Formats: sequence, C-alpha cells, structure tokens
Amino acid sequence: MIVQKRISTIRKYILLALASALHLAAPASAQTRERNTNTSQTEKYRLVWFEDPTTTATFVWNQLAGDPATLYYGLQNQNRQKGKYSNRAKVNRVVKYDGMTNCFVRLQNLVPDSWYFMCLGDDFGVSRRFYFKTAPDKPEAFTFICGGDSRNFRDVRQAANTLCKKLAPLFVAFTGDMISQDNAEEWSHWLDDWQLTINEKGHLLPIAPHRGNHEGRPESIPNHFGMPKDSYAAFSIGGDLFRYYILNSEIPADGAQGAWLSDDLRKNANGVTHLVAGYHKPMLPHTSGKALGRNPAKWAKTFYEAGLDLAMESDSHVMKRTLPIRPDASGKGGFRAAPDDPNATTYLGEGCWGAPLRKADVAFPWTVGAASFNGFDWIHVTPKAMYDKTVKIENVARIGEIDPKKPYENPAGISLWAPRGGDEVLTIPAD
Ligand SMILES: [Fe+2]
Repeated sequence: MIVQKRISTIRKYILLALASALHLAAPASAQTRERNTNTSQTEKYRLVWFEDPTTTATFVWNQLAGDPATLYYGLQNQNRQKGKYSNRAKVNRVVKYDGMTNCFVRLQNLVPDSWYFMCLGDDFGVSRRFYFKTAPDKPEAFTFICGGDSRNFRDVRQAANTLCKKLAPLFVAFTGDMISQDNAEEWSHWLDDWQLTINEKGHLLPIAPHRGNHEGRPESIPNHFGMPKDSYAAFSIGGDLFRYYILNSEIPADGAQGAWLSDDLRKNANGVTHLVAGYHKPMLPHTSGKALGRNPAKWAKTFYEAGLDLAMESDSHVMKRTLPIRPDASGKGGFRAAPDDPNATTYLGEGCWGAPLRKADVAFPWTVGAASFNGFDWIHVTPKAMYDKTVKIENVARIGEIDPKKPYENPAGISLWAPRGGDEVLTIPAD
C-alpha cells in the first residue's frame, strides 16, 4: 500500500516536471516555427559581399510569383512583423536567368560591426526572419572560410555547407566551380544547397563568389550573385587589418584586371596588415592532371611586390599548403621558399567542396603538404597574425557548433588536416 502510494507520488512529480518543461519549451519552439515560416513567394536566399562590407551588402533571392518583394530591415529584431522595421528597400535589379527571377537589393549606409534583422514582404505574405552581421571597420579579430569546387557530389556539398553553418564565420570566400554544368538545373540545386548555410534562427553567412572555369557563361556569377560584369572586386575589413581580392582566373590576369589589381595594391598594400587574394585556377596545381603555370601565374610578381600574404586557389580537387614563397626563375616551378621574406606569399587550396577528388601527386620543395580529401580552410584573422586550419568534410552530423564567444575554438568532433603529420594550425604572422 505504502509502496503504491510512493509510486503514485513519484509519477505525479514526473508528470508535473514534464508539464512544466513542456510549458517552458512550448513558447520557444512556437517562436522558432513562427520565425521560420515563409508565406511569401521567395526562395534561394544569398547575401553577397564584394564591396565595402562594413556598410554594404547585396541580398538576392528568387521571386517565384508576383511582383518582386520589398526588403524590411533594421537594427532591431522585429521577427516577421515587417511594418515594424525601421527601413525598407525595393529591388535595384531583377534578372530573369536560368528559369529564375533573381531579385537584387543593394543595402547601403549600414552601421559597421552590427547585427541587422530583416524579412521580405510580397503580395503573398512574409518570408522567414533573417539576420546578418556587417563587417567591423576597426581592427578586431574575425574568422572566414575559403574553399571551392562544389561541382558534382551534392552530399559532400551539403555537408560542407552545413559545416559552414556550424562554424559561423564572418563570411565565406567561394573560389569558383560552384556547378559542373553551367545550366538552370544545376544552379537551382546549388542555390537550394546553399540554404544549409543558414541556421534555424535565420543567420545569413555572406558569400564572396569567384568565377571558375565551369561558370562557362561570363554572366552567371553576375546574374546569380550581383557581382560586377567581370567578377573581380576588393574589399577591406577592420580598417587597415585586412583587404581581400576576389580575382577572376577565367579572363586575362593582365589586361584591365591586372592593371586594376596593381593599382589597388599600390594604393593599399603599405597600410594594410593582411593582404589576401582568392581565385579559381592555381598557378601550380598539386596534381599531374592539370597543366602548370596557368593564367594566374602572371599575378605572382604583383603579389610579391605588394607583399600579398595569402593566396587561396581552387580547381585541382586536392588540398595543399605551401611555405611562404617568392617568384624565382631558378626555383622549382618558378618559386623559391622564402619564410623570412616579409613580401613572400603562402598559397592554400585547391578546391574540394564536392568535386571529384584527384591524386595529390605533384609536390615542390616549398610544398608543406598536399593530399586528396574533401575540405576547406578556416581562417582566423587577428591583428598579430592569420591562422589557418584545414577542416575535413567528414562526420559533419557529429560536429558541434562553435561558441560565438570563442569563434576559432574547435567544436567537438571536428577533424583537422595535419600535413605530413605536422602542425594542424598554420600561422601567417603580420609583417
Ligand atoms: Fe575548375
């Protein structure tokens, strides 16, 4: 009798605890559901950085029906109550391309280093709530991810995108060959897969898109991301802390692009702590499946003279890391290791976001390591140095999320590459 009474008391407490847990949990999940509801006819969202990201960003989506939506945004979170946002912006440009109606809003005069909240409203309803962070305009540490070649295997691409979401960098530099065939179906899939970079609260990771050789139509990158016609650009983050060059290896490296690059570096190189460039085709692929000395090799001298610190390459479908090197006609591949030369450049790459892997069967005396696996580079930019970890795209479901207060601390379950059993973390000191 006593035992039975005890059991019924325990049961009562368990039920009470459950009821109170549910009561506490219910409003939060209802809020998440409401925040993620999309009653508008919009989809395939991407936030693009290619000009001053401290004050400017381009938001792009596909309008499925009706007139283009209006973007409602502001520094205060209003969730999906579009009328409460302090600002609204109409589309600057609409492009019908690849069976989609790509709508572009260029957000300007944003406050640096700030969180913005937003939603879209059209004739049908309201999109889910989104938010993103503008880049800081004063030197402060941040992380970014760089990688490319997501062409063929959607499972790897989706896993890599999911891992981006978990690592929550300030932005993602995507160095080309998003798709294999430059057509409507593949772009539709790619843009759907990109949605996996957005977390359940609606955090948009800005993308800096680069053109690869599989973006065979020169207008694909401009029409899907709002990039300028020739798909090259530069922007700074943290004042003089960091300047990033989006380069296009599919048009001449010299010519107008080369003149612009030299001119921009001449104006900015001396004052900037970390100079970084990204482009698709590597100067010297670490696989025998590709020819050496390709179009971008023409940039080597420009990089060296300006003291470019880091170049991110793609296209070969292997992973590699080099020592700081400088052009030298008598060196292997036309370069020589120069670890103590402040003008030397470290090269990373070469594109393993789901493209068919190749054998890493080419190495130079200045190669730190080259291997064949899916991965991307995760970089921490600080006033003292840049740090690189090469992250393997494996067991992504088991990898934890970063703690936003420690944005470069390894989450549980992450696998990092240690080239030739050496250091997982590469340090590129400030000059
Ligand atoms: Fe390529």
